[in-house]
Amino acid sequence: MMNCRTCGHPIEAFMSYGRMPIANGFLTPAQFDQEKFFELAPAFCEKCATFQIVDQPDAQDMFHENYAFFTRTSAWMVKHFGTYAEYAYENWVAGKTDPFVVELGSNDGAMLENFTKRDIRHLGVEPSANVAAVAREHGVNSLCAFFGEETAKKIVTEHGKADVIMAANVMCHIPDLKDVARGFDALLKDDGVFMFEDPYLGDMVAKTSYDQIYDEHVYIFSAHSVKAMFEPFGFELIDVLAQTTHGGSMRYVFGRKDQHRAHARVTDLLDAEIKQGLTKFETFQKFAENCETSKRELVQLLKELKAQGKRVVGYGATSKSTTVLNYCQIGPDLIEFISDTTPIKQGKLTPGMHIPVQPYDNFKVNYPDYAVLFAWNHGAEIRAKEDAFRESGGQWILYVPKVSVE
Ligand code: TYD
Repeated sequence: MMNCRTCGHPIEAFMSYGRMPIANGFLTPAQFDQEKFFELAPAFCEKCATFQIVDQPDAQDMFHENYAFFTRTSAWMVKHFGTYAEYAYENWVAGKTDPFVVELGSNDGAMLENFTKRDIRHLGVEPSANVAAVAREHGVNSLCAFFGEETAKKIVTEHGKADVIMAANVMCHIPDLKDVARGFDALLKDDGVFMFEDPYLGDMVAKTSYDQIYDEHVYIFSAHSVKAMFEPFGFELIDVLAQTTHGGSMRYVFGRKDQHRAHARVTDLLDAEIKQGLTKFETFQKFAENCETSKRELVQLLKELKAQGKRVVGYGATSKSTTVLNYCQIGPDLIEFISDTTPIKQGKLTPGMHIPVQPYDNFKVNYPDYAVLFAWNHGAEIRAKEDAFRESGGQWILYVPKVSVE
């Protein structure tokens, strides 16, 4: 039993994915005895429609000077952030006098770089020192800090108030969003807006993409849940824009109440969420059953392929894959290695199940019979460049939206 982080109503987990390590905690054998685990169990609050995980490891165990995620590893994501920045610029920045843009979780600067090109005052707020250092190399002003009311007030003192506050795949990581909301209130100009995009609950439920649930993602948002979180702080949801990134995301735009006209898309999405059952507990009981089916089918397929003597590797050592591998208990007996282009992950072992992570070249020099596409959210980008794998007779194994071989 816990209290909902948004409305305080008592809630409890509707299922458990079991004992989970830190999703981005790639490690060496010498670190096995220090590996941290927690129970990954989601809960749904029917009072305010907030989907959240019950326990979350300490922030310092997830976001630190060795954070393994770099936005720039995906060319498509870099392009996407160009489009996102353009949206923010065209709609909310252009024409303003001396505009100021702040990004939360600015990572390696892939988004804010688009504002540096236009000479717009900007500041990235990024708690992981290693990725913030890369942003600075790209000319992006970066403050190494967690964002909240205190940080917001410091920013106002030093730089003044912001026209736009942006975030991508960051807000769902922050357990205390009330402190963030107070920070927005302190930092935003009266006609300013804040916008963020994160994996969308509607997509996760529709595709049984339960791998979106891992330690860093304390929430999987819907329009209902973000309204419930930010309206009490005097903000109004004024637009929603569906995105294809991260397997289906939603961009939410908020302004101060009565400062802007809300787009009709907002009510359309709220209606669609009610129709999809995103405000009802039963939907998540059904979702839990779908997860169990997905697990059974994936393990069965991998065991059959092993029995046939096939070589199976993984493609993309994603954070998402940590949930799948540990929930399904898939280890190096079923998956030889996982190929990944991120240097900091290579030569290490995956969290919990300890499958080796190898450089991308090891995939290319000796194509396996099957590759599990753990980076399925980059499926179009990856398939486009991996024709030779398919031509060699190789096949992809997918588990979203259904376990399948293609
Ligand atoms: P990401 O999409 O960020 O997923 P998550 O948020 O679940 O970690 O991670 C993609 C991972 O896949 C990242 O480690 C880089 C890797 N990758 C490749 O190895 N090759 C590729 O072509 C792409 C696009 C990604």
